[in-house]
Amino acid sequence: MKTKFMFLACFFCVSLSLMAGDKQTIRIGTEAVDLIYQVAGNGRLYQSYLGRKLHHEADMAHLSLGKEAYPTHGMEDYFEPAIHVVHHDGNPSAVLKYQSHTRQSLSPDVEEVVITLQDDQYPVSVKLHYVAYRKENVIKTYTEISHQEKKAVELHKYASAMLHMNRSKYFLTEFSGDWANEVGIKSQPLEFGKKIIDTKLGTRANMFCSPFFQLSLDNQAEEEAGEVLVGSLGWTGNFRFVFEVDNQNGLRIIPGINPYASTYRLNPNEVFVTPEFYFTYSFDGMGQASRNLHDWARNHQVKDGNGGRMTLLNNWEATGFNFNEDKLVKLMDDAAGLGVDMFLLDDGWFANKYPRSSDHQGLGDWDETADKLPNGISHLTRAAKEKGIKFGLWIEPEMVNPKSELYEKHKDWVIHLPNRDEYYFRNQMVLDLSNPKVQDYVFGIVDGLMTRYPDIAFFKWDCNSPITNIYSPYLKDKQSHLYIDYVRGLYRVLERINAKYPALPMMLCSGGGGRSDYEALKYFTEFWPSDNTDPIERLFIQWGFSQVFPAKTLCAHVTGWNRKASVKFRTEVAMMGKLGFDINMAELNEKEAAYCRDAVKNYNCLKPVILDGDMHRLVSPYSGNHTSTMYVDKQQNRAVVFAFDIYPRYSENIRPVRLHGLDADKMYRVKEINLMPGSGSNLSGNGQVFSGEYLQNVGLNLFTGRQLNSRVIELTAE
Ligand code: GLA
Repeated sequence: MKTKFMFLACFFCVSLSLMAGDKQTIRIGTEAVDLIYQVAGNGRLYQSYLGRKLHHEADMAHLSLGKEAYPTHGMEDYFEPAIHVVHHDGNPSAVLKYQSHTRQSLSPDVEEVVITLQDDQYPVSVKLHYVAYRKENVIKTYTEISHQEKKAVELHKYASAMLHMNRSKYFLTEFSGDWANEVGIKSQPLEFGKKIIDTKLGTRANMFCSPFFQLSLDNQAEEEAGEVLVGSLGWTGNFRFVFEVDNQNGLRIIPGINPYASTYRLNPNEVFVTPEFYFTYSFDGMGQASRNLHDWARNHQVKDGNGGRMTLLNNWEATGFNFNEDKLVKLMDDAAGLGVDMFLLDDGWFANKYPRSSDHQGLGDWDETADKLPNGISHLTRAAKEKGIKFGLWIEPEMVNPKSELYEKHKDWVIHLPNRDEYYFRNQMVLDLSNPKVQDYVFGIVDGLMTRYPDIAFFKWDCNSPITNIYSPYLKDKQSHLYIDYVRGLYRVLERINAKYPALPMMLCSGGGGRSDYEALKYFTEFWPSDNTDPIERLFIQWGFSQVFPAKTLCAHVTGWNRKASVKFRTEVAMMGKLGFDINMAELNEKEAAYCRDAVKNYNCLKPVILDGDMHRLVSPYSGNHTSTMYVDKQQNRAVVFAFDIYPRYSENIRPVRLHGLDADKMYRVKEINLMPGSGSNLSGNGQVFSGEYLQNVGLNLFTGRQLNSRVIELTAE
């Protein structure tokens, strides 16, 4: 009864303010989506709408208030808060009231709205940032928390944002797995209560789950149909997504840093900036959401997002740690012969007291091993230059093997518990990047190499260990800052590298896909999705990452994993990402080698389509025995279709596949390319001309009944 009365009283109060016409509306809009906030008579901010764009301004007056935009701990909200602050006097509550908002154009198609909220009893301020990318239908949000109390306050929770949905049903798709089994796609309905996706691995944070999700609304969205919100957090460390369905079937989505063991003491006038949360909203299924994110990533987020990408030959699978100068120079000949842009020297080139002959030692000592490389890196960059290719180098600068000179000299730089046995992951430990001296040291690894060898054209930056033995000798009584300050320290280093070497491409690697977030990609041109390069597994892994990341960021290498698959099949899977080879070319017969040379040429020619075009996933590998994806250039003049038969069943009915993304009125010539030397195409329709309309409504017979068969088909508008 009491509750009912309170509810009525509340409602009355709100209605009064609405009738008084004093409710302020703040709209954050893209071409297709609106996120609308309103300030109520009580001075607090509410999310009134998130969904398809509302074109009639007059309708704003009809919107109900909705739920509080950034709920606090300690007051009348009974579900998961966005912020939990304990003030210097021990008071654990906050009431945030709207103070002001600003709106500014960052470019013709990008607008930022900043809403400032202020606690009504304490000098604590919360700024909610929203950057709307009009054309790409992406909204970026993050929050700044600051105060002018007499002493530090404690932040126990500090979400990047909160989004509310009010729909009949919710279906969450998460991307989880393990090393060599990344981004398995799993969907589930959300019912009352919480679903949390989080990590506490620290550095190799995404080994078990990735910082992105798809949320279907009302019905499970499909590739080309249904409403879906796709979100991703830019944080190269412990993240957390909370999805909580409340008593009225409302859903709150709370993305942010994982507050696990991370209470943050914030000093007066310090600003706590949360990571950015990016989301897009599609009314036409997952495919459109992916294309939105791909465009946004290339135009606004990824390092050199609209620039070129280099094909390469890597030596890791071919040699492991077992190489010398002559072997490497010989591999460079293979790279040049293959026609790729670069030779990438992987792990094993450094350390002398404890040479890096295995993963047990040497990490931290970044000088060339004298008996492996007597003439140093400069000999290698010179050799590469002579052969007309670039030279790239592997480093793992955040880590140390206990068997290294660095560890012997600088135990104080290593994250470790002073009074316990050390626990190693891949025989190594993590350096303490919360310490500015360690930041200088890590920056100095790249800077030192670039200064000595300015012809290094690329780095592969690895990170093989999660944080173990969690204790920072530097942070002393602020241990609960370590997970956060580590990541901020890493960004400081990466910012310095970006500032000094803005054109230096770098690959982010973390024992495979252990790091896969959009903040890191501000500093990296691409990332290594998985150590698993079995082409069948890669079809699934690349399908998973492609939900959120464009092809040009997904490194995909042709290797010796799964020799049951032909070199052609393996290459064609890798051509759907940023193509590289990590294979002993001497193992290939002449036909296979000729095929690879031809494939590199075709890939170079198709780069604008695959790397910068629109991706349309046609048939999911999860749906059965075949899979297909196509890419269309922005002018809809060229397209390329990849089709794979994985394990067709006896007597299976094979139907034509309908294409997507073409101009219905254009005429396209269909041509199978990437054929093995000496073999012809048996694709029906090969060489013929079809309208986009026909190809999209009738389709092509892409699939066959042959196991591990693959096809690449080029479409050119006439
Ligand atoms: C990690 C990477 C591999 C390779 C090795 C080298 O596992 O994912 O690609 O670079 O390290 O040690």
